[in-house]
Amino acid sequence: MAIEQTLSIIKPDGVEKNVIGKIIARFEEEGLTPVGIRMVHLSQQEAEGFYAVHRERPFFGELVEFMTRGPVVVMALEGDNAVAKNREVMGATNPDDADEGTLRALYASGIEENTVHGSDSLENAAIEIKYFFSDIQVFPRG
Ligand code: CMP
Repeated sequence: MAIEQTLSIIKPDGVEKNVIGKIIARFEEEGLTPVGIRMVHLSQQEAEGFYAVHRERPFFGELVEFMTRGPVVVMALEGDNAVAKNREVMGATNPDDADEGTLRALYASGIEENTVHGSDSLENAAIEIKYFFSDIQVFPRG
């Protein structure tokens, strides 16, 4: 398998529920090592830019409103097959469909307040990591 990096966001609901530590511990247990971490309160412009691909979707306004409600934790995670591994650990977008024990099954309250974001491809992971981190803010562990 290949060592990859992916972007994870602990969304405002995860921060509000005080599960930052539990989520990061789970990533580490699963072989996803944080190599960059920041807490940030997204502006409307930053949230709209991050989710630009969803701009035409009916839920876009609510998604931006939710993502700017409070601070989030953004992380670059590194590990074997990190993009797919992170998505496996998160579970399905809608927590009703998420497998038992996944982060969304454990902590999410709905399809919007779904606690964590993860990049959906290696290509988007690189774009999303660059959105939040400069090269000198990421510390690859290989
Ligand atoms: P995320 O992985 O961050 O990527 C886009 C987000 O849009 C997704 O998680 C959900 O939080 C949100 N989303 C996707 N589908 C819907 C929907 N039908 N209604 C509200 N929010 C949605």
